[in-house]
Amino acid sequence: MKDFKTLVQCRRSHRRFTDREVSAEHLQLILRAALMSPTSMGRRNWHFAIVDNKRDIEKMADAKEMGSQFMKNAPLAIVVMGDPKSNDCWVEDGSIAAMSMQYQAEDLGLGSCWIQMRNRGLADGHTANEVIHGILGLPENLEVLCVLAIGHPADELKPQSEDDLKWENVIIKSDD
Ligand SMILES: Cc1cc2nc3c(=O)[nH]c(=O)nc-3n(C[C@H](O)[C@H](O)[C@H](O)COP(=O)(O)O)c2cc1C
Repeated sequence: MKDFKTLVQCRRSHRRFTDREVSAEHLQLILRAALMSPTSMGRRNWHFAIVDNKRDIEKMADAKEMGSQFMKNAPLAIVVMGDPKSNDCWVEDGSIAAMSMQYQAEDLGLGSCWIQMRNRGLADGHTANEVIHGILGLPENLEVLCVLAIGHPADELKPQSEDDLKWENVIIKSDD
């Protein structure tokens, strides 16, 4: 296991995966990280759908115009959802859960990539949310935030460079 400082630096978005499946043990650890993530008022009002069959993953890859085709090669997809009517922090709660899963995946030597679905869709007017509901038959109250593509990476990506960090975006307010 990498220390957290190194884990943060090494996490990159992987979009190429081998055919090897993600083990049940690793999947459980990834979901555990999501279910342990902090939520607004501790309500834990997020929902996840696990998709590991190629047919549905391939269909989900076509849920929006750009940036999702590579999902077709992933052995595992986790749909991150919330209920906007009962949780005004559904985007924040889902985002934190998604990121927790990405760090857990990285720690297990897996690669992952966030695929944005909220506010995305197809040129014919269908939203990515509608397309994914149509494929998976999800409860109507749930809205899709993103899909995480997860698998054993087929590429090697460089750790983030310390020299590229946007320290200029940090406003420092000191006392004097
Ligand atoms: C909110 C959000 C939406 C993203 N949407 C997509 C996406 O739809 N497709 C994709 O390939 N990558 C997506 N990414 C991954 C980013 O492109 C990636 O994090 C960024 O380019 C930095 O690269 P790195 O993760 O390797 O450091 C998304 C990331 C975030 C945080």
